[in-house]
Parts: sequence; C-alpha cells; structure tokens
Amino acid sequence: MYIQIALILKVTLDTPMENSGKTATTREEIAAMRRSYGEIGLETLSTDPIEAFTEWLHEAAANPIIVEANAMVLSTLGVGEKISSRTVLLKDISDGGFTFFTNYSSRKAHAIELNSQVTLLFPWYAMERQVIISGDAQKVDQKESEEYFASRPWSSQIGAWASTQSQVLSSREELQMRYEGAAKKWPEGTTVPCPPHWGGYRVVPISIEFWQGRYSRLHDRLRFERADSSADWEMTRYYP
Ligand SMILES: Cc1cc2nc3c(=O)[nH]c(=O)nc-3n(C[C@H](O)[C@H](O)[C@H](O)COP(=O)(O)O)c2cc1C
Repeated sequence: MYIQIALILKVTLDTPMENSGKTATTREEIAAMRRSYGEIGLETLSTDPIEAFTEWLHEAAANPIIVEANAMVLSTLGVGEKISSRTVLLKDISDGGFTFFTNYSSRKAHAIELNSQVTLLFPWYAMERQVIISGDAQKVDQKESEEYFASRPWSSQIGAWASTQSQVLSSREELQMRYEGAAKKWPEGTTVPCPPHWGGYRVVPISIEFWQGRYSRLHDRLRFERADSSADWEMTRYYP
C-alpha cells in the first residue's frame, strides 16, 4: 500500500518533494503538481469504441500501479437537478453496455429512476488516460443480478443484506448488529438469496470519449457518438 502510494507520488510530481519532510498542502506545492505526458497517441485505437475500451481496461488491469482498474465514477442527476457522483465497480461488458451492481433503494438508484442518463468516468491517471461514457442506465434482468450475487463472497452477500445503502445510520454498532443478524440467518456455507433491493444496472452508451495525455498539453481526445443505441458510431476529434 505504502509502496504503491510512494510510486504514484514519484510519477506524479515534477518538483522533488520526497526529502522535504512536508506533505503537499501549500498552494504553491499544489500548483506545481504537473508532469509531462508521452509521445504515444491514439493512432492505433480501434474504430469500435467498445472494443477500444475493452483493450484499455485490459491494459489498465495489467498495470501494477493502477488499483481497481474497473473502478469508475458514476454521475447522476437527481431530485432538484442535483448532480451527485460516486465510485462503483464495472462488473460486465455485455449486450452493448457496461454493468455495475448496487442497492436499488440507494440515492443513485433514486436518481436513475428520475433520469436514466448517466456518465461513467474511468480515471486511469497512471497511464495518462481517461474514458468518459455517457448513456442510458437500465436495470438488468433479475436473473442476471441473482447470478452475479451468487458469485460474490459470503461476507459481501451478508453485507448487502445488512446495509440500507444511503440511509442515515445512527451508529457503527447498528450496522454490525444488522450484519450479525443476517449472518445468523444465513450462516457461512449456506445459500444467501439475492436481496430484492439489490441488483445491476447496464449503461448503454451513446458517447464514449478516449483521452490520452500527450506532450506540451497537446493531448489526444477522440469521442465516439451516436444518436441512439442502434445507430452507427461517428468519431470526432476534439481540442484538448
Ligand atoms: C473503490 C470503490 C468501489 C465501490 N464500488 C461500489 C459498487 O460497485 N456498488 C455500490 O453500490 N457502491 C460502491 N462503492 C460505494 C459508492 O461509492 C457509494 O458510496 C455508495 O454506492 C452509495 O452511493 P449513493 O448514496 O450515491 O447511492 C464503491 C466505493 C469505492 C471507493
């Protein structure tokens, strides 16, 4: 963990701060955080954006500096046009969409009910890469959620029963008690059913943007867009 953080800091900072004994908290120090990006651009990117994304995910997962390569920032528009963001894990790419699993009573789920247009952002900074996907989020079939739930570790399954995600929690003890209650009901080794309030969303994209950091801030930025999920993709290069 510490080695990873040290490695990340080493590649992130232009100014040598390792021996200063200080943390990077001053205005000047934060302003000085920058690095030069590479020579390799998006010339070889696949013309199929889902294929291109899958290749980048594979490369990110193989990169030892990147933790949780499948972590993505999901942004939603909720009640009163309030934007909210949070990290979720990509668990599948199928049927032309990107799937994550969550609690169907959570804040994000309520927001998706109101407005199913969402964005997913993959921040692969260590590779000077970012992918932003915009699309429509729809619940996956219950069977699909149940199948994935069954593949999760027992403790995660029990955790899903214990947490009324996004609700106010009066104390840590309350959560612990709920966990123990569920663990008693479905002891380790037994089949834990998929909670009715838990399942997946598949985000079917209408826009996928690939960003690759390049020298002199002349980054590459290619966006694939289509009018709807049955239309052909059109690729456009944008100023960085
Ligand atoms: C690395 C990481 C992975 C996460 N993965 C998930 C996930 O797959 N599903 C999920 O519901 N929450 C996940 N979370 C927690 C969410 O970020 C968030 O706190 C939670 O879903 C409640 O969000 P909401 O109140 O906006 O609905 C993850 C958090 C982190 C930091």
